[in-house]
Amino acid sequence: MSDPSAEGLLALLPRLREIRHDLHQHPELGFEEHRTQGIVGAWLREHGYQPRDCAGTGLVADLHPQADPDAPCIALRADLDCLPMHEATDLPYRSVHEGRAHKCGHDGHTAILMGVAARLAAQRERLAGNVRLLFQPAEEGVRGGGARVMVAEGALAGVAEVYGLHNWPSFPRGHVRVRSGAMMADARRLEIVVHGTGGHASEPERCRDPIVAAAHLVVALQTVVSRGVGSHGGAVVSICRVAAGDAHNVIPDRAELWGTVRTFDPAVTERVLERIEEVATGIAAAFGVRVELLPPEGYPLLVNAPRCADAVRRVAERVVGPSRVGDEGLPLGAGEDFAYLAQAVPGAYFFLGAGDPAGTTPGCHHPDFDFDDELIPLGIEMFLGLVDDRLRELSAQ
Ligand code: NI
Repeated sequence: MSDPSAEGLLALLPRLREIRHDLHQHPELGFEEHRTQGIVGAWLREHGYQPRDCAGTGLVADLHPQADPDAPCIALRADLDCLPMHEATDLPYRSVHEGRAHKCGHDGHTAILMGVAARLAAQRERLAGNVRLLFQPAEEGVRGGGARVMVAEGALAGVAEVYGLHNWPSFPRGHVRVRSGAMMADARRLEIVVHGTGGHASEPERCRDPIVAAAHLVVALQTVVSRGVGSHGGAVVSICRVAAGDAHNVIPDRAELWGTVRTFDPAVTERVLERIEEVATGIAAAFGVRVELLPPEGYPLLVNAPRCADAVRRVAERVVGPSRVGDEGLPLGAGEDFAYLAQAVPGAYFFLGAGDPAGTTPGCHHPDFDFDDELIPLGIEMFLGLVDDRLRELSAQ
């Protein structure tokens, strides 16, 4: 091994794997990542950083806290939180908290950025600018939005560009996927309450049955994409939860529908939401009920800046080889709050493929999912390559 930096990375990997497994075993939900914050903070201090808390349970650390304000600064982001779900694996480091599990691989993303922190610290003097490490809480769930809070707290002040990554088992292991422009969906939460009048099941004529109205609404919403907006624009409306009633013989007074709206264009989102409101108003009039639409909260469209996506592509071609870099399968219909970071400053988000050739690797949010430790060195090399290239290019401008 002639490259001393590669040797340093190899020496680091066993410890990073250990940390990743420990984080996996002790998962924490959004804005509750106190233990994780403690572990990351201790690691950063051990490597000479002076991290500061951000967004409650997040951390921000600068490689050069006293950097010349004119020197370029690149930010790198990892997400810290787990999902509120069951762990179905029998891994030795399976979650010790029922109902909480790292099923999106944020434990791995955190370990990657910790590895980057250690490698950067070892070459601090060599770099042509500053690097800011963002350990972000609460990525999961549209009411999480830890990235939005970090931006509001000034985490990107003075930052020229921001980069983030995610493992993705639907893409082949060792491949990097990235594109310019729309990368991940504008994802909105849809919550609809149908208010009717309940009563005895034997006298439906004396009720305003919210279940029948809700059933018609579910069917009518299927025409929003196709009749309301074209189906070629990539818009999706899905109703994923229907809830009403508690007994066999009682017509309830309300029904709830939960679902999601996904698009790749804010104007399409607006049109879809307008059309949902029109359909809901019509159903309400037809069935004599009141339909209430809760504010469609969500994450905005994640847009990669062309020059940042190009930088990711160039680094990836060097790290994994040109044949393993592409944009097939993008943009993804999932939402991601990195969108707020990429709205604040130019940035790019990319995927590290984690799937076996047979396509049997459990995907993110599946109860059998586990982060692939082989991605730790790949993620570190990608981030270090971006820091090297972009600091050099930005300071030459
Ligand atoms: Ni995730």
